[in-house]
Amino acid sequence: MQHDSSDKHAIQRPRHIAVVMDGNGRWATRRGLPRTAGHREGVKAVRAIVESSAERGVGTLTLFAFSSENWRRPRNEVSVLMSLFLTTLRSEVRRLVDNNVRLRFIGDRQVFSERLRVAMNQAEGDTRDCSGLNLVVAANYGGRWDIVQAARRISDQVLAGRMLPEDVTEHSLNDLTCLAGLPDPDLFIRTGGERRISNFLIWQMAYTELYFADCLWPDFDEAELDLALADFERRQRRFGQTGEQVIGRVDA
Ligand code: IPE
Ligand code: IPE
Ligand code: MG
Repeated sequence: MQHDSSDKHAIQRPRHIAVVMDGNGRWATRRGLPRTAGHREGVKAVRAIVESSAERGVGTLTLFAFSSENWRRPRNEVSVLMSLFLTTLRSEVRRLVDNNVRLRFIGDRQVFSERLRVAMNQAEGDTRDCSGLNLVVAANYGGRWDIVQAARRISDQVLAGRMLPEDVTEHSLNDLTCLAGLPDPDLFIRTGGERRISNFLIWQMAYTELYFADCLWPDFDEAELDLALADFERRQRRFGQTGEQVIGRVDA
């Protein structure tokens, strides 16, 4: 499938990297700072990974910024995260355009403030013609929500008589998920040491290579990204086949 076995020496690079940026709170707490200071520091790491991914020719970078479960946090932390989101959006769009980065958001944005929704639409519009890195920011996103909203939309089509139940396939359902039109993530990176997916892109990550880094998100720099890429390069992606088939020693 996505693995190119025709040239065994070609460097295997992910086309799409999905990242759970975890550990901001602990980064701050360890320094005796409020958790929100960690979120502010985390923004710098976002800027760095966007630029290093663009330089390395990654096609799509999806960042988990706020999960559908993060509303459960203390009210003050949620409100700082929302205002940080707004100020970052406003201050970073120019830099994204300069770096030819196209920004998109996934997640349920209905619950966000009017001001934030306007800024999100504006940023998407301003970067629409950028043809370099696709940057996808997941905000109020949940993998289960994504599957449910796709299922609802497909049921509407069936009810309206525009689709038959047998037209509901992995392909047609995928086309209604948030990342439709983009390749599935090849590499998942989670910082902060936890080994879990936390309801991120559960549909899209069926065959994604998982990489867990112990460093906290504000410490994730270019060198850490290169460690993840080097690890990915050594993975053999089999997609159900045998290792021998993948290296081409056995006929398909
Ligand atoms: C991830 O860092 C950022 C968001 C969820 C917005 P955390 O805030 O979860 O940091 P830890 O896990 O508490 O250290
Ligand atoms: C996942 O991190 C969400 C984001 C990074 C935005 P969490 O820190 O919220 O994950 P859990 O709750 O520890 O699994
Ligand atoms: Mg966390």
